[in-house]
Amino acid sequence: MESVSDINLADNLNAEKPNPGGEDIVTVAAPVYGGRLPGMVAESLCRLQGNGAKAIAMVVYGNRDYDDALLELTDILTQCGFNVIGAGAFIGQHSIFPTVGSERPDMDDKRELKAFGNACCEAVMAGRQGGLNVKGKRPYKKIAGVPMHPQVDRKVCRSCRKCADMCPAGAISPAEPYVTDNDKCISCGRCIAVCPHKARHYAGLKYSFVNRLFVWGFSRRKNPEWTVADR
Ligand SMILES: Cc1cc2nc3c(=O)[nH]c(=O)nc-3n(C[C@H](O)[C@H](O)[C@H](O)COP(=O)(O)O)c2cc1C
Repeated sequence: MESVSDINLADNLNAEKPNPGGEDIVTVAAPVYGGRLPGMVAESLCRLQGNGAKAIAMVVYGNRDYDDALLELTDILTQCGFNVIGAGAFIGQHSIFPTVGSERPDMDDKRELKAFGNACCEAVMAGRQGGLNVKGKRPYKKIAGVPMHPQVDRKVCRSCRKCADMCPAGAISPAEPYVTDNDKCISCGRCIAVCPHKARHYAGLKYSFVNRLFVWGFSRRKNPEWTVADR
């Protein structure tokens, strides 16, 4: 292995993208929002240049479904000039309804990830390029936003601005970090995860109701699905 570099687009959607050569392998992983890629992630990925490099496409979803997200990611990478040799959908904790997928990824998921990685390596060694069978339909599912946004407990918020700094959508005012612009908020919950004072939560009657329905409807275990070039 020559070198590995890691870019987290959640830190900066405009981060300098890699400029791979034909011998490189680029793994692109994205979360599933509403059965699609988050819009701003898709836009950012469209600016990648594949230059014929091999790519592995991965999506992570919260145990409901990944619908057309993996197909969308595979299509974007192909249009950018990558040669996609593997594509997989894996399960993580749901970031809005965290009881769903709460223990994921677990040991079984990690075993599947390893099997997927090994199969991708074999495909690269054998020079396989085609035959991927990715679930999804074109045209993709319509994008639907989530009509719920994290709320702030003003008594607990210390205005440290960490949430404003880390919000990928720029939806939190640095001057008044307890104010969120719901038109910009993509409901990703990163502000909840990074708040050192635990001042942000999903809450309210509507949330409790939808949470119950969601837990009831989508708690049954889903398993990873992947496909690797076989010719
Ligand atoms: C706005 C939003 C929409 C989501 N839509 C879906 C979905 O359609 N299907 C699903 O199974 N999980 C869905 N999830 C759960 C995420 O795919 C899952 O929690 C993923 O691990 C989030 O990764 P992240 O924390 O890096 O954003 C959604 C999460 C958010 C915040």
